Amino acid sequence: MIELVLATNNAHKVEEIQQILGGRFQIRTLAEENISVEVEETGASFAENAIIKASVIAKLTGKYALSDDSGLVVAALGGKPGIYSARYAGEGHDDKANIIKLLDDMQHKQDRSAKFVSAVALCKPNGEVVIAEGAAEGEILREQRGAGGFGYDPVFFSHELQKTFAEATAQEKNAVSHRKRALQNLAAKLSLEYS
Ligand code: IMP
Repeated sequence: MIELVLATNNAHKVEEIQQILGGRFQIRTLAEENISVEVEETGASFAENAIIKASVIAKLTGKYALSDDSGLVVAALGGKPGIYSARYAGEGHDDKANIIKLLDDMQHKQDRSAKFVSAVALCKPNGEVVIAEGAAEGEILREQRGAGGFGYDPVFFSHELQKTFAEATAQEKNAVSHRKRALQNLAAKLSLEYS
């Protein structure tokens, strides 16, 4: 089986990717490869950032590598916070500050529509890249609801679930998540069987 190194240290992502691509690839983590790198996300899109991260890991290991990049895209803010979702309120990964800034920026906006977007990139040792994207549609509430999830989940009301991602169970969220859809699209591109 081909080894696939995941360019993430996030256990939830590892689990999700294992479920979808584990039948075809032997999933390896950065820790198992003894790699500890902080790759700068200098791309202009989710896809570019995913490719940058995956290609660094593919070069370092000489193996297949998979990376994802995701964020929240809000129509009334011209697509912001977009690729800057993690650091919308400034450097660091402060979810609480990011939500407060988002609610503030959205205070006078009537159009509340938004989507989570995920791009995944699979980079082969020969430099070949396969890219796929997925999205989850919803809207930005005026206040936070729910205690689960992470990031912008408490203010993202999912059209499909009819509740916020923070009110949903992990299973419910994962069934409709942008990341899940990107991985499914990637699996389809690789002509994999997905169940
Ligand atoms: P990353 O691609 O994991 O680095 O995520 C970038 C940022 O986008 C995160 O720090 C969150 O702010 C936001 N984000 C991405 N996916 C989600 C999600 O499923 N729920 C809430 N926020 C998310």
